[in-house]
Amino acid sequence: MWENLEVKLTKAGQDQLKEKPAQDDLGFGIHFTDHMFLMKWDKQNGWHDAEICPYHDFQVNPAAMVFHYGQAIFEGMKAYKGDDGQIFLFRPRDNFERMNSSALRMCMPRLPIDKVLKSLRALIYLDRAWVPAGGGATLYIRPTMIATEPTLGVKASSLYTFYIIMCPVGAYYPEGFNPTKIYITDKYVRAVEGGVGNVKTAGNYAASLLASQEAKQAGYTQVLWLDACEHRYIEEVGTSNIFFRIHDQVITPPLHGSILGGITRDSVIKLLQGWGVSVEERRISIDEVVAASQDGSLREAFGTGTAAVISPVGELFYKEQEYIINKGETGELAHRLFEELQGIQYGKKEDPFKWTVRVG
Ligand SMILES: Cc1ncc(COP(=O)(O)O)c(C=O)c1O
Repeated sequence: MWENLEVKLTKAGQDQLKEKPAQDDLGFGIHFTDHMFLMKWDKQNGWHDAEICPYHDFQVNPAAMVFHYGQAIFEGMKAYKGDDGQIFLFRPRDNFERMNSSALRMCMPRLPIDKVLKSLRALIYLDRAWVPAGGGATLYIRPTMIATEPTLGVKASSLYTFYIIMCPVGAYYPEGFNPTKIYITDKYVRAVEGGVGNVKTAGNYAASLLASQEAKQAGYTQVLWLDACEHRYIEEVGTSNIFFRIHDQVITPPLHGSILGGITRDSVIKLLQGWGVSVEERRISIDEVVAASQDGSLREAFGTGTAAVISPVGELFYKEQEYIINKGETGELAHRLFEELQGIQYGKKEDPFKWTVRVG
């Protein structure tokens, strides 16, 4: 039935075109482009009514299951404009494959990836004037799927809406590549194995807000989560995966079901291996990190994610103690990885893994 998915195109009229924000005033997720992609799913027709249309509010019944039982999944990816105006996506197929794994866990329908990817490229091309040029600014892309059946019984919905919206976003590091201060919580937990920690579903983010607020009030940028059973093993940080460099070994927690399998995480592992750096995906306890900080073998720590690409960590706060990493400065590997990934994403560096996809 997917083979017949046709995409209707309705371009925004002159009166619907929005004024574009100034490049230095983009913020994150505030301004949306002129168009969006939308399609619906029901049991009889599968995905249907696919369209690229002007960005608009849509009507959803107040009883829609997404509002009550949280069947909502999403993705986050970016489009980058190179020096010659060419626009690139970074590993977009991986985002849609991850969305399909999320869909499976949340009893939602799978996406026809080739069709959606083709529609996304057409959507970006139509709104290409919204892709900011260089300087670390990008077009952030948010594919989302919600359950829309208006029924209050707890079950999987029989109706879904999938849409893609896009917004130009400012550089993550407008004032340079600065290390962050991270708060380690043993009061709250994010996810348990067997739960939905490895799924990009809305409720995970709602459940993280209180810990983030408390960390911010204490003067920290992000929360680092420990495992839910023993409150000992490192999980991930905010919306990033985490890496530690101890002596010459790079260590990152394994994908056992409670953390998200980041696409940046996977890219970093592949780059490091290609450079001959030894990377271990294994459980790492907070005690091991603290001991390495105390004996001087913790050389650097950094987060990885679509938003920041690489986010160096300058300080950890755990059980009322501060641990400064690499004198609070960006480490050598974090710096090299950032330059390499950004270079590939903007089409400036060779792309040996064929990660980038051209738009248009
Ligand atoms: C909870 C969480 N962990 C890790 C990541 C990093 O994933 P990626 O590198 O695919 O952006 C994200 C961002 O999507 C996230 O929300």
